Amino acid sequence: SFHDQFAERLITWHKAEGRHGLPWQGKRDAYAVWVSEIMLQQTQVTTVLERYPRFMKRFPNVKKLAAANIDEVLAEWAGLGYYSRARNLHACANQVVEDFDGHFPKDPLLLEQLKGIGRSTAGAIAAFAFEERAPILDANVKRILARLFAIEQPLQEKAVTDELWAIAERLLPKSSQSMPTYTQALMDFGATWCTARRPVCIGGQQKCPFEKNCQANLSDQVLLLPKKISK
Ligand code: ADE
Repeated sequence: SFHDQFAERLITWHKAEGRHGLPWQGKRDAYAVWVSEIMLQQTQVTTVLERYPRFMKRFPNVKKLAAANIDEVLAEWAGLGYYSRARNLHACANQVVEDFDGHFPKDPLLLEQLKGIGRSTAGAIAAFAFEERAPILDANVKRILARLFAIEQPLQEKAVTDELWAIAERLLPKSSQSMPTYTQALMDFGATWCTARRPVCIGGQQKCPFEKNCQANLSDQVLLLPKKISK
């Protein structure tokens, strides 16, 4: 079925069309993965490219970050915005040192209990750093799934979020070895092909690998999904 083919086809797409060679990719150090994911949450890739190497040089591991003064962390974060991320980063580093002897846990349920790490970021860290079969569900992935399965209800509804997490679980590759590439592929597909305003299936030159499976595409609803909350 389509569910069973999705991961493989997405990974094939990523080899040809995904983003490659970014400095945080291919890292299996959970600290390095975590810093990149927090930075990438609300900051553009081009800005993170400039600031991530500098941050890693200043705070090369979780113990150095935990031992730093919060003001040093905030100074290094200057210009990146959303400073609660820097405060959470520092608090989380201290949790990892005190509660996990300086080693990030691999269980997404434990990762999710750390400061500033939500369920989707926990899944990303578990997948990238530990090859865990944990799903992600950020705004880009929600949009992809809402289109593939023509989900008509607004995504803010709790029942819809639960359903999307269940679908995200079902679509995971069978082999956990594929989790880092699969997770990056999902992020890249949402960021560059299945975009909100200019999805490539609409007038693009490129051929979406899911055009025959995408319920939104098959019913000409791609630009109408996910639905905006009607107020
Ligand atoms: N946004 C969040 N995580 C990302 C990643 N690993 N690569 C690109 N964009 C991202």
